[in-house]
Amino acid sequence: METDGEDEAVTEGTLGVGIVGTGGMGGRHARNLGHRIAGAHIAAVMDVDGERAAAVAAECGGAAVFADAAELIGDRAVDAVLIASPDPTHADLAVACIQAGKPVLCEKPLGVGLDDARRVLDAEVAGGRKLVQVGLMRTYDPQHTALKQAIDDGAIGRPLLFRGIHKHWRADVVRTAVDVIVNSAVHDIHSARWLMADDVAKVYANHVTDLPDRPETTRLVLLQLVFRGGGLAEIEVDVDAGYGYEVIVEVSGERGTLRTPSLTSPILRKAGVASRAVEADWLERFRAAYVLETEAWVRVAREGKAAGATAWDGYAAMQVADAAARSLDSGTAEAVPEEPRPALYDPACTGPGGGSGGQAE
Ligand SMILES: NC(=O)c1ccc[n+]([C@@H]2O[C@H](COP(=O)([O-])OP(=O)(O)OC[C@H]3O[C@@H](n4cnc5c(N)ncnc54)[C@H](O)[C@@H]3O)[C@@H](O)[C@H]2O)c1
Repeated sequence: METDGEDEAVTEGTLGVGIVGTGGMGGRHARNLGHRIAGAHIAAVMDVDGERAAAVAAECGGAAVFADAAELIGDRAVDAVLIASPDPTHADLAVACIQAGKPVLCEKPLGVGLDDARRVLDAEVAGGRKLVQVGLMRTYDPQHTALKQAIDDGAIGRPLLFRGIHKHWRADVVRTAVDVIVNSAVHDIHSARWLMADDVAKVYANHVTDLPDRPETTRLVLLQLVFRGGGLAEIEVDVDAGYGYEVIVEVSGERGTLRTPSLTSPILRKAGVASRAVEADWLERFRAAYVLETEAWVRVAREGKAAGATAWDGYAAMQVADAAARSLDSGTAEAVPEEPRPALYDPACTGPGGGSGGQAE
């Protein structure tokens, strides 16, 4: 471990955050914590790429650089942990944080399968304290929160149908349909549960194959959901849209329809053309949401708690993803098992960024 002397005067009384994984997402979180968010300082970083971790630490005010995640989680200077390493590492690291009694902002998904998510949920329930916030951060995106507020204000009456369109500009790697569901559609599944304020009963999944000789590879995934209360959702994830990154949400209700503007750029009128730039990726499109998410986390983590999407939300989203994967295999709609929500998650968080909708919430 290499320590770059912290300034006690600056960090005293603020939340010491340890970051595991300092790549695209972890680097963004680190810069937000280092430069934009009050009440926290980066106490430690860890990445299997030690040079990357050291560079991020240096850029964000200096922090201890660890070679081992367990050591970072156990370190006394680390009050709370932000996990932004690859998906397969999430469950073990989140469980380690729970066992250490430290609040954790764990990037989505909660694991790479339902068993992973279940382990995190069980560990948190056994500990009896909500320590996990899952990085399902669209509930902090101003466009999403405005839409949610309008639904809650009764603008469209009872929501009937959620439509989610999730476009990635280009695919750098060939992805399987299951990976796209677990890694990407999990955001849209969470949004659907949150905005429809209901749990999913049934999923029908289809996809368009990318490489004809490898039917598991995908270009575009389509999920159709039926909620327990009878509402519906349709989710498209296009991994190679060819024009930019875009997330569009529309909710149709009994008395009207709400739709996010989706793009954040101004309209340019020039040379006979009116146009708008499309964001390149999620880091651009959800720039504000990442800051608001981490600000909210820091606020409650300083009290040893968690906000936003809970481990239950992460688990519920994974249950839907799991049923979707089964549906791809079976070719028919698959039921999502109905499980009672553990008392720890009742009553749910509400308000911007609050935990998402189970039926009773
Ligand atoms: N919430 C969101 O909108 C959002 C967006 C993108 C990515 N993510 C999630 O964030 C996580 C990281 O994604 P990314 O895009 O930053 O990937 P990335 O590849 O850019 O970064 C991952 C980093 O983790 C490091 N790493 C690999 N194995 C590790 C290990 N065992 N321990 C510690 N570090 C390890 C890598 O060296 C790399 O620096 C993923 O789980 C992804 O699903 C979330």
